[in-house]
Amino acid sequence: MTLDSAPAAEASATEFPVPAGVFAQTVTEVQHYTDRLFRFRITRPPSFRFRSGEFVMIGLPNAEKPVMRAYSIASPSWDEEIEFYSIKVPGGPLTEHLQKIKVGDTVLMRRKSTGTLVNDALLPGKRLWMFATGTGIAPFASIIRDPETYEKFDQLILCHTCREAGELTYGRDLVAALKSDPLVGEMAANLTLYDTLTRQDWPRTGRQTDLMASGKIFADLGVPPISPLDDRGMICGSMDMLRDTKIALEQFGLEEGANNRPATFVVEKAFVD
Ligand code: A2P
Repeated sequence: MTLDSAPAAEASATEFPVPAGVFAQTVTEVQHYTDRLFRFRITRPPSFRFRSGEFVMIGLPNAEKPVMRAYSIASPSWDEEIEFYSIKVPGGPLTEHLQKIKVGDTVLMRRKSTGTLVNDALLPGKRLWMFATGTGIAPFASIIRDPETYEKFDQLILCHTCREAGELTYGRDLVAALKSDPLVGEMAANLTLYDTLTRQDWPRTGRQTDLMASGKIFADLGVPPISPLDDRGMICGSMDMLRDTKIALEQFGLEEGANNRPATFVVEKAFVD
């Protein structure tokens, strides 16, 4: 793991003009977890507002028409900076370059964020299940740092499944740090991280979908199986994972909601490249 951190620098001059509707922000921190994953932070424009769980298009000022991709914002809406958690796709039009960014570099960010993984799209409930694989944990990094989530739900369960142990570090560090967070530290006692691996030995192994089907996840957590009365779900991962987890939640009787029609679960895509 490498950490590149320094005080925010002034935005470096860009070779190309900044497109309309886009902010040019400065990288303040970069941390690499594995050869597939890294996190970075950028300065936050004072006028930029978003709801925890939303995504925004980002890119690099390296072309007249820069490649922009949707990234979930991993920092909470009260944070002074903006954080992103990214995969590195070999040959990926954006991540191939993005993974090389350094403190002081410029990142482009659209002025408007959007998304369905927001508290407003869910009906109130007792328990919030957040299902993530890989970098799909990013929007939940925002949501579990938002006091509103703890006001709306009695219990939060963050499920994170990855291939290998190094890929769980981001979520583990995040939840550990949350316990001493001045804003949500006390409330975070209601949050449980349930992480599993699929391609390495580990105390807990298996896909979330299989662990729900077998009932093991409920037994491990000491909670009843998911029910439309008490439980709410948010899903973020690959296309296949979204589809399979959605089917699993529908089998428990949950219904997909949206911003204009809140229901018992919502789905997001965390795709890059
Ligand atoms: P597996 O190793 O069995 O494929 P990826 O990096 O490919 O997005 O995968 C991240 C994690 O998501 C892996 O642990 C992977 O398990 C799991 N996964 C992949 N597809 C699905 C799916 N359809 N449903 C649930 N989990 C999945």
